[in-house]
Order: sequence, then C-alpha cells, then structure tokens
Amino acid sequence: MKTIAVYYSLNGNSHLIAERIKTTLGADTLRLEPVKSMPKQGFMKMFQGGKQALFGDMPALKPYRLDVDQYELLILGGPVWAGSPAPALMNFLQQTKFSGKKVALFCCHGGGKGRTFSKLRDALSGNTILGEIDFPNASKQDVQTLNAKLDAWLRDISTR
Ligand SMILES: Cc1cc2nc3c(=O)[nH]c(=O)nc-3n(C[C@H](O)[C@H](O)[C@H](O)COP(=O)(O)O)c2cc1C
Repeated sequence: MKTIAVYYSLNGNSHLIAERIKTTLGADTLRLEPVKSMPKQGFMKMFQGGKQALFGDMPALKPYRLDVDQYELLILGGPVWAGSPAPALMNFLQQTKFSGKKVALFCCHGGGKGRTFSKLRDALSGNTILGEIDFPNASKQDVQTLNAKLDAWLRDISTR
C-alpha cells in the first residue's frame, strides 16, 4: 500500500517516528516547515507555540509538493501543543483537502494528548481512520521499546 507520512516536528520526536515509518514501510515522508521558525527551547517556545495552538493561529507553511492521489495511506502526525495538534498540521489539513483516503494518526506529547486525535478526526471527515497511536515522552523512551510499539501498530494498520 503506497504510503506517505506527513508530519511536523519542532524538537525531533515526531521526526524520529516518521523516519521509522519510512524505513519500516518504505514510505515517503513530507516534513512540514513553517515559514517563520519557532524557538526550539525555553519560555518563548512555550509562549509562542501555546498561543498559536490556543488561539487557532496557523502559521504559513513553506511550499511543499504533494500529489495525494499517489497514496493509498497517509500517516499524519506531530506534537501535541496545548492539548491540540500542533498548528502546522492543522494548517496542512486546511490547505490540502482530500477524501476517500485511508489515514492513520500519531502524536508525541509530554504526558497528555488532550483533544489531539478528536480534532484531527474532525478535520479528516470523509476519510477512513485506520488507527491512532501516541508516544508520551518519546525522547526518554528506550528506542527498541518505542520501535517495537510503532512497528506493531504499523503491522496492524497495514492489514486493514
Ligand atoms: C508550545 C508547546 C505546547 C505543548 N503542549 C503540550 C500539551 O498540551 N501536552 C503534552 O503532553 N505535551 C505538550 N508539549 C510537549 C510536546 O508535545 C512534546 O515535547 C513532543 O514530544 C514534542 O514533539 P516534537 O519533538 O516532534 O516537536 C508542548 C510543547 C510545546 C512546544
């Protein structure tokens, strides 16, 4: 099943997941990049990112090329910000409309995924959601355990 992982990652956790999806499934990847870069650390990271997520701001994304028709399965993911999907992913879904696709969702967070999956599901109506998986504190997890969890999920969604 031709697959692409479309994701945003500020601090690298979601990137690690996407890279593993790439090697395990032979998937393509598309990393979303906002035009205006965010601070990666400290108060301003939490302040700016939290403000965007809470007020529904969607920062402009650098141009990307994606022919959704090429893919049977889209795996979408990124970090949780203020209990919601990071705004870059929501912006992608607003810019790139599609329906009738198989979709699977992942998120990385520090302990609480909040309404991330329900918001993504709402934005993805008209598609079939095969599954969702979350990774708490991914950077602190043992890589083999994390990969085993992800690979089991990928096997599961690939059979649907
Ligand atoms: C602005 C901002 C808001 C965040 N809000 C939450 C949150 O509501 N719940 C949570 O568990 N983690 C929250 N986090 C932590 C990230 O979701 C977590 O560190 C995640 O693994 C980062 O993924 P990344 O490395 O792909 O960017 C927040 C991080 C940032 C920068």
